[in-house]
Amino acid sequence: PEGRRIGALEVGAGTGGTAAQVLPVLAPACDRYIFTDVSDFFLRQAARRFGSFACFEAALLNIDADPRLQGFASHELDLVVAANVLHATPSVLTALRHCRQLLRPGGALVVNEAVRVFRFVQVVFGQTDGWWLF
Ligand SMILES: C[S@@+](CC[C@H](N)C(=O)[O-])C[C@H]1O[C@@H](n2cnc3c(N)ncnc32)[C@H](O)[C@@H]1O
Repeated sequence: PEGRRIGALEVGAGTGGTAAQVLPVLAPACDRYIFTDVSDFFLRQAARRFGSFACFEAALLNIDADPRLQGFASHELDLVVAANVLHATPSVLTALRHCRQLLRPGGALVVNEAVRVFRFVQVVFGQTDGWWLF
């Protein structure tokens, strides 16, 4: 709605590859950009890199578990970004439900996922347990 600034959350934001592109564009219109990951290591790195953006916040979030049990309010956000993370959860359906839980009615989920098989990617990332969780 006019006059209200965007509340956004990124799931599995990791090394910040997506945030580095999205955050500078959204920042002028953003009230909150909550950079989340299951790993605290990435959050500390991100705070150093993106801390100068007034809307930047960092928080732990396992999207496989209920966000309400991890300190997140229901249906408060306008935008959830999930870039190359949903495949790393045991149930994509559960992860999608939890994304929806975070969004206001009419909010948007932006998903970026690999949908084609590249041998190079399989060989490199296939060495990690998370790649096969789905
Ligand atoms: C391939 S990286 C993508 C990083 C980032 N989204 C980007 O586009 O640069 C996947 C990230 O998902 C995180 N992740 C894995 N399982 C997760 C889960 N259950 N909930 C939230 N994040 C998770 C990992 O810690 C990792 O940082």
